[in-house]
Amino acid sequence: MSKNIVLIGFMGSGKSMIARELARRLKRELIATDSLAETREGKSIHEIFKAKGEPYFRELEHNIIKEVSLSQGAIIDCGGGVVLHKENLNLLKANGIVFYLQATPEVIYERIKHEGHRPLLKVPDPLGCIKELYQQRLPLYNQAHHIIDANDALIEGPVVEILNKIKTI
Ligand code: S3P
Repeated sequence: MSKNIVLIGFMGSGKSMIARELARRLKRELIATDSLAETREGKSIHEIFKAKGEPYFRELEHNIIKEVSLSQGAIIDCGGGVVLHKENLNLLKANGIVFYLQATPEVIYERIKHEGHRPLLKVPDPLGCIKELYQQRLPLYNQAHHIIDANDALIEGPVVEILNKIKTI
């Protein structure tokens, strides 16, 4: 039975694009945890945060992780804060190879500064907020099986690196 390929990393690190490309090339099922949350609640992530708050979203995300970590051979694109619930990473690692897509706060800021759908970054100083969250989360992201440099805007590099890594496993 084949393991899941799990992508974690900060908002704007390219998880969704890279996951879509991996699913296409490997002909595997693509699971995006944020999309599942939106479908289940019938609301956008932004609306879920606004109506019910972050703790509610984290519990919803945790329940989704419990389910999707039981999949076989799927590409799992996780929301950036998935590492915050202490059980999530272990659940994902139990049946998956976890890749942390690493990009610096400055690169992330440049990528997402014109996007308005991320509730956690709707603050007066988004770069400062990214730096703070990044520092808090770094030790958690670093618990992935593999760290992939995702600072370049092109997704081909990380995609090829991940494909090479799974070949040798
Ligand atoms: C979040 C990241 C988002 C989404 C929510 C919270 C976070 O996912 O789950 O806005 O805490 O980093 P993306 O990383 O796909 O933007």
